[in-house]
Amino acid sequence: MKGTIGGKVQKFYNETPFPDYELERFENKEQLRILAYPFAETLDRSIPKDASIIDVGTGTGQLSAFLSLKRKNVWGIDFSDSSLKKANALKEKLKLDTLTLKKVNILNDNEIEKLPKFDYVLCMGVLHHTGNPKKAFRNILKLLKPNGKIAIGLYNKYGRIPLKIRIFLAKTIFRNNQKVKDYFIRLQIGEIKDKERARGWWNDQYEHPHESTHTIGEVLDWFKKYNVKYLQTVPNTKFSNGTDLECYGLFNKERKPTIVHRAYNQLKWIYTTHKEGGYWITMGERK
Ligand SMILES: C[S@@+](CC[C@H](N)C(=O)[O-])C[C@H]1O[C@@H](n2cnc3c(N)ncnc32)[C@H](O)[C@@H]1O
Repeated sequence: MKGTIGGKVQKFYNETPFPDYELERFENKEQLRILAYPFAETLDRSIPKDASIIDVGTGTGQLSAFLSLKRKNVWGIDFSDSSLKKANALKEKLKLDTLTLKKVNILNDNEIEKLPKFDYVLCMGVLHHTGNPKKAFRNILKLLKPNGKIAIGLYNKYGRIPLKIRIFLAKTIFRNNQKVKDYFIRLQIGEIKDKERARGWWNDQYEHPHESTHTIGEVLDWFKKYNVKYLQTVPNTKFSNGTDLECYGLFNKERKPTIVHRAYNQLKWIYTTHKEGGYWITMGERK
């Protein structure tokens, strides 16, 4: 893989695992629960306790570890050894017996074929770093049982424009200015007390060797091509705040957005998702 996009991305995540955290923050399972970010809690509440889950591109494993607390079969896969090492350290420390971690390259058909099938496939912030998101999407669908549900988080083509401007500013006018760096990263993660996490985020957002951006229409085309029923997106057009989303939950069946809705929402996301770097999640169900 040396010299390829995959090789560069793998090297990058071996040097700077993501989302990363100071392992000492998690002394017990309760702390994993308390420190879970709100979206992880909403996911946890929206997925049945008896469902099997695979978190594709789990990175340092915080999400898969958290979801495994209440479940019997949760997997986290990734192709970065350093990230998996950290995820394994967390698993060992907290004795997360229902969490399975495995090294898998999602563009490798043979490695994918060997894995079992799951009720839920989660793939957050991964496909846009693969160099071939459509193939990677097709591959991870193979991990889904019939009627199983999938959530994919991607950078939006329009929503990411402000972050691209921040990257440009950070690398030109404000070169090496730590205060500006801290300000930009605080926009995204709120606080920078956990230095490992702040460093992980900075590298992931501002120093990445490869990312692509996507539109809702493109994801709908993938869904159509590979027989996936559209369910819902986050951000969701129905709500103005996260509390409403928590109550409403995820994986609800909604009407597929028309071209007008898509154009309106994506333009709106330039402003409303600029702090998250234009990140959005689409959910579907395998037919
Ligand atoms: C931005 S991180 C996301 C981590 C985690 N899903 C999250 O949301 O915090 C992207 C992850 O995808 C993994 N990844 C990228 N390309 C991959 C591939 N082809 N196969 C497996 N993992 C891959 C990277 O190693 C990295 O851990």
